[in-house]
Amino acid sequence: MLQNSLAADPNRDLKSIYVYAAPVRIWHWVMTAAMIVLVTTGLLIAYPPPAVGGEASEHFLFGYIRFAHFTAGYVLAISWLVRVYWAIVGNDYTRQLFLVPVWSRAWWSEFGNDLKTYAFLPSAKPLRYAGHNPMAQLAMFFMATLGSFFMIITGFAMYSEGAGRGSWQDKLFGWVIPLFGQSQDVHTWHHLCMWLIVMFTIVHLYMVVRQEITTKESILSTMIGGYRSFKD
Ligand code: HEM
Ligand code: HEM
Repeated sequence: MLQNSLAADPNRDLKSIYVYAAPVRIWHWVMTAAMIVLVTTGLLIAYPPPAVGGEASEHFLFGYIRFAHFTAGYVLAISWLVRVYWAIVGNDYTRQLFLVPVWSRAWWSEFGNDLKTYAFLPSAKPLRYAGHNPMAQLAMFFMATLGSFFMIITGFAMYSEGAGRGSWQDKLFGWVIPLFGQSQDVHTWHHLCMWLIVMFTIVHLYMVVRQEITTKESILSTMIGGYRSFKD
């Protein structure tokens, strides 16, 4: 099991660690691009623009909006499949998004330390991490990982209504609609979870900038080049 903070080995002369292999970095940026398209087109589906005038058969505006949403939906789903595969074959850090060691006392104690650090309490000692700190890990697990899975499952369930009975979307995800009640309920939950992901992204961006400024670890360049560098 991955040692969470690097505190256990303070004498280790760390300059940099290869944390994110290329598939993880590509997944992150492809998924981010897909999310931008999904949120934009999703809001247009939820709050449609007024009908365009003239001959109906000359326009396909809403069709294009839905087409963009579904294409980005497929991209998101496939990128997460690649990410899950990489969690199996990749290094320990790649599993942090899926396995949160809530059974570990040390993890909870570091979680408490994170709370103090983020509150800028003087008693907090910021620890060094090559992967994610416990608070980041927990937020990422619930909001990014489970949030994305929820969007993919409910998205394909709604898609199955158009794809029709017997389609693979219907066979794999058709059961979701009766589970929620009816189609409109799935729409509502899919819509609500979008705001959870949007909130996560806003806090995520704040944290990236905050950690970059207040800690001695590289952050943004780590998701570009793969290496976590230690500036001290
Ligand atoms: C984070 C990812 C996603 C976001 C933010 C998102 C957002 C949205 C939103 C806001 C709506 C409108 C819901 C409403 O109020 O009625 C919607 C509808 C829909 N989404 Fe997504 N979505 C995401 C992922 C997906 C995925 C992976 C699929 C699978 C293909 C998908 C398929 C659909 C379908 C089929 C609809 C209904 C379209 C319609 O009724 O015309 N979505 N989405
Ligand atoms: C332009 C927008 C974004 C920027 C600049 C950005 C930046 C970053 C950076 C720098 C990291 C590495 C953090 C570290 O070193 O510990 C990271 C990781 C991560 N980001 Fe983003 N991010 C963006 C959008 C998103 C979005 C939309 C999501 C999903 C909702 C997301 C989910 C994640 C996750 C889950 C990780 C952890 C990756 C892993 O452990 O495999 N990011 N992001």
